[in-house]
Amino acid sequence: MNCETRVWDDKESLSRAVAEEIEKIAAASISDHGRFDLVLAGGHTPRRLYEILCSDYRERIDWSRTHLFWSDERYVAQDDPLSNYRMAQQALVIPLGISEGNVHPMPTYFADPDEAAQSYEKMLRGHFGPEGPKFDLVLLGIGPEGHTASLFPGSPALNEVERWVVPVKVSAKPPLRLTLTFAALDSATDVFFLLSGESKKDIVRKLLSPSPEEQGEVYPAACVHPKGRTILFLDRAAQP
Ligand code: 6PG
Repeated sequence: MNCETRVWDDKESLSRAVAEEIEKIAAASISDHGRFDLVLAGGHTPRRLYEILCSDYRERIDWSRTHLFWSDERYVAQDDPLSNYRMAQQALVIPLGISEGNVHPMPTYFADPDEAAQSYEKMLRGHFGPEGPKFDLVLLGIGPEGHTASLFPGSPALNEVERWVVPVKVSAKPPLRLTLTFAALDSATDVFFLLSGESKKDIVRKLLSPSPEEQGEVYPAACVHPKGRTILFLDRAAQP
């Protein structure tokens, strides 16, 4: 995986470093095109970052010009403890009081998840226009087998080149998800991966210095190629 790597002592300093970068990108995006389009990662790692953004960065980022999207969503109700939206709602959206029109959760109320994916894509087309999504920053995590968003190794979604959002069945719990595709993720200017803790050490090693037999593996996280920077933010515990 060819990207910049930045290492911090612990999750707290990692989260603070990412928040600082987000402030810079937000200011540059708003000055350049009047808006900051930010994709939030799911999972547990980014929670501390979201708490820092809504406390220390409440006044330092123009949230009235910031739009929040999700990289993926578990196909559960928004009040389900497994919901990525619920985590961000508690840690960032509610405490920040950001306007509802700026918050774009993936819908999980359709009986057919494919309809949900189409509905989210329709919203994105309305927001960005037909030429396609152009997220200013995408935040992502990486799972132990190299998945990112809900793009897992071997998934047919890895080969999707037209659609920006698709439903997927995955090995993790819950099995049904919605995910942005590489077509949407790669539209980003910058992509930040956030990894913290011992459990990430092995996948970081595989991504950065795979053994000869691992070199043939396809890790979805290594297949994200944005227009600008890809930065791996690690804490020491996740560093191989
Ligand atoms: C999800 C995420 C997923 C996550 C990684 C890392 O819905 O689970 O989008 O891609 O970012 O699995 O998760 P942790 O941060 O909890 O380790």
